[in-house]
Amino acid sequence: MTANTNKAGTESIVHCEDYAAPDHNVESIHLTFDLVPNQTTVTARMIVIPKDDRKSDDFVLYRDDVSMTYLKIGGKDSLPGQYAFVADKLIIHDISEPTEIEIQTRINPRTNLQLSGLYMSRNNYITQCEAEGFRRIMYFPDRPDVLAKYRVVIHAPKDYKALLSNGNLMEQGELLDGRNYAIWDDPFPKPSYLFALVAGNFVAQEETIKLANGKEALLQIWTEPSNQGKTDFAMQSLIKAIRWDEERFGLNLDLDRFMIVATDDFNMGAMENKGLNIFNSKCVLADSRIATDEDFARIESVIAHEYFHNWTGDRVTCRDWFQLSLKEGLTVFREQEFAADMLGTPSARAVKRIQDVRYLRTNQFPEDAGPMAHPIRPESYRQIDNFYTTTVYEKGAEVVRMYQTLFGKEGFRRGLLEYINRFDGTAATCSDFLTAMEESNGEDLSQFELWYSQAGTPRVSVSSKWDENEKTLTLTLHQSNRSFPGRAAPKPLLIPVSIGILGDDGKDIELQLQGEDNPDGTTRTLLFDQQEQTWVFENINSRPILSIGRGYSAPVIFDIEYTKDQLAFLARNDSDLFNRAEAFDRLTLLMIDQYILDLQKKGPNQGRDHIPVSEAYLFTFEDILNDESLSPAYRAELLKFPDENYIAEHRILIEPALVREVSDQIRKKIGTRLRATLEDKVQKMATPGAYRPNPIDAGKRALKHVCLGYLAFADNPKAIQQIRALYKTANNLTDQLAALKISVEASLPIAQELLNMAEIEWQREPLLMNKWLTLHSRLRHSREQRTVVEKIHALTLHGSYQPKNPNCIYSLLYAFFRSGGPEFHRPDGMGYQLWVNSVLSTDQFNPQVAARLARVLENWRRYEPSLSRMMYKALRFVNSHRELSPDVREIIENALY
Ligand code: PHE
Ligand code: ZN
Repeated sequence: MTANTNKAGTESIVHCEDYAAPDHNVESIHLTFDLVPNQTTVTARMIVIPKDDRKSDDFVLYRDDVSMTYLKIGGKDSLPGQYAFVADKLIIHDISEPTEIEIQTRINPRTNLQLSGLYMSRNNYITQCEAEGFRRIMYFPDRPDVLAKYRVVIHAPKDYKALLSNGNLMEQGELLDGRNYAIWDDPFPKPSYLFALVAGNFVAQEETIKLANGKEALLQIWTEPSNQGKTDFAMQSLIKAIRWDEERFGLNLDLDRFMIVATDDFNMGAMENKGLNIFNSKCVLADSRIATDEDFARIESVIAHEYFHNWTGDRVTCRDWFQLSLKEGLTVFREQEFAADMLGTPSARAVKRIQDVRYLRTNQFPEDAGPMAHPIRPESYRQIDNFYTTTVYEKGAEVVRMYQTLFGKEGFRRGLLEYINRFDGTAATCSDFLTAMEESNGEDLSQFELWYSQAGTPRVSVSSKWDENEKTLTLTLHQSNRSFPGRAAPKPLLIPVSIGILGDDGKDIELQLQGEDNPDGTTRTLLFDQQEQTWVFENINSRPILSIGRGYSAPVIFDIEYTKDQLAFLARNDSDLFNRAEAFDRLTLLMIDQYILDLQKKGPNQGRDHIPVSEAYLFTFEDILNDESLSPAYRAELLKFPDENYIAEHRILIEPALVREVSDQIRKKIGTRLRATLEDKVQKMATPGAYRPNPIDAGKRALKHVCLGYLAFADNPKAIQQIRALYKTANNLTDQLAALKISVEASLPIAQELLNMAEIEWQREPLLMNKWLTLHSRLRHSREQRTVVEKIHALTLHGSYQPKNPNCIYSLLYAFFRSGGPEFHRPDGMGYQLWVNSVLSTDQFNPQVAARLARVLENWRRYEPSLSRMMYKALRFVNSHRELSPDVREIIENALY
């Protein structure tokens, strides 16, 4: 990779190994904000303490897009020689004793459309400081290993009712000039990325709760007045999260007050600022009219995620941004465990696990196999904003999960508490976490640490041999890891592989390894730490079938050859509900591959839709559908047809039109052949009465929608009527949106009618209009008119589409680009044309969002040659622009070279 220069003209690649501790600490910072839309003044007084072991007396502060009105050092106006501006830094010389430094900056929140730093959402002020936004507000050592105590004074116009910052409210009132003020004090030292300020016309829902330690805490959720009444669910979720962290880890809320604010203008999902979490409205607002079952579940998880950061992120933070997974992987894992515990039943927990693993496979695997591949602890970056990835988050969470798999829940808890004890109030590293885990469990994890430094999804190939006479099963595992040019060859990882063995009666066999006196359970976790390793199981009396990677015990690809019969058997019998789904998933993918082969043998006009879906597959499908011992949610999860991106990810060459043709045909055949059973389930899965977003009802709705989907593809007139009625009579958004999705995907004649109705009903609600926009990314082009790209483009001019709002961009453009269908991957390249224009125009005002759009084409090498060539050209075209942001430049150059 070649180094390039950023706006400020400095070398822009940051390397993990170059880490150097700061030479100065900031003991405290007092900030005063004078909020004016085009010209906000910020004054900071900080007490800077040089460290004894410092290398230099230079005190280094960062800046980005701020101007300085004055600088005082030790209470006196600074003199020219005392400081210097070097690229993106301000260096103040000769700070060799504790010194008060005062700086005033001027910023323009009104024109800040990057939504990093202090910006405006309508007429309200919001901050976003992770990762490097604070330097867009104030010159500061804006790095996570500088922890200071904050005191914040806010001056704002009179009508600004809510003036919020981190910590405790000390004072509030009216200034002499009639404006309002508030003073906040955060008792906990924190890095600048956790600073937050909110000012505007917000109202709060409040609740006071008693914590496990006996203290009281005030919980508040602030929204704009139009969103009042949509925060009940979030409040309940917050309380559940607080209770869960008390019970599971004995971790208490450490503040008198905990606040959440909702805003429509936000780049990400939510942010864990100390005591003042700021949320994208889509991750917090919910009621039966504006949120689906999935949204409810997501909101519960995100609220919990941000709350859990209070300990894993805020109390113990990251030394530098290479350690991002230290807080994110860990907090995603905590969030997943919380969600599972809230679901309770084994079957519901399995559904959650299946969904999380699908997400990993659809989003993280391609990242790990492509040009942006990086270890969960990256080694270098040009723009840290580009490293908030599924690798750092979701693969990071899988790595944390493996500690729990290795040490059990108790051992994990011990390790986590040890980590928090050791590093409370400080900035830690991934190695610190690992060390706390290994020491509190008395194990050596030096090999396990490779998970932090090796990128790529490991492949584990599995072979086994049953010796009928000896009654033994010999299992051999072989691992291979992706190697990267110019890097040391990958080493074998420590991979926990949980397995079970089924006998021919479908029951689990007690597992006894050679050399052991007694069997020890029916699921065991093998420590696989060599390139190749063999285990021998004894007393295997009937022909065994292996259930490998139960519960998905490691983020790897298990290569194992099963016959279709074996998969069907596992899908009916595996006691591990995750692996049972896994078996059916493998069976479905095999069936799809076979179908594609058959289709490819046909010419363009030779009865391409006369290929049968295998009878055996349909039998298994129907059996599962009818299996009343399985929860509706679980059946829905297994039987819903795989996403086109998920299918594509399993293929060597990606051919979007082919995947579409096959998906549509197979769905149609399932809908035709299993019509009676599907119709029966639609009827049985009714959820009469008031809408409740609980997992049981949600599961019934999900199964009903899955069945209706297949019937719709088969053009079943009764189903089409039911779908129309579902939309019209629904008392909840889940049913309505499902009706819309199915009609659009199956190109039903009622699709346009429903879209029009929704447009009128939903027009006053931005969250709903975003969903409406997303529905269009599922439109199909018919043979005559290939107009979806044009439609999407036209919608960028729709009254509900706000061109500068990230949620709108994600809902319409990103959703369309990511849909993976032939409407985007058009043979004439028009889809890529829209992509080019969107990336370039978004980059003009919001590089972070532009970079996310840009990533859509990074795996261009995997597509069929005619598409791949055009994707390459589109990437080249974007790269030829001189004015690209460093964010987009990094993505495009990685993709190209
Ligand atoms: N730290 C946030 C989270 O995962 C995500 C985030 C990153 C938000 C950067 C904004 C900016 O909870
Ligand atoms: Zn997080």
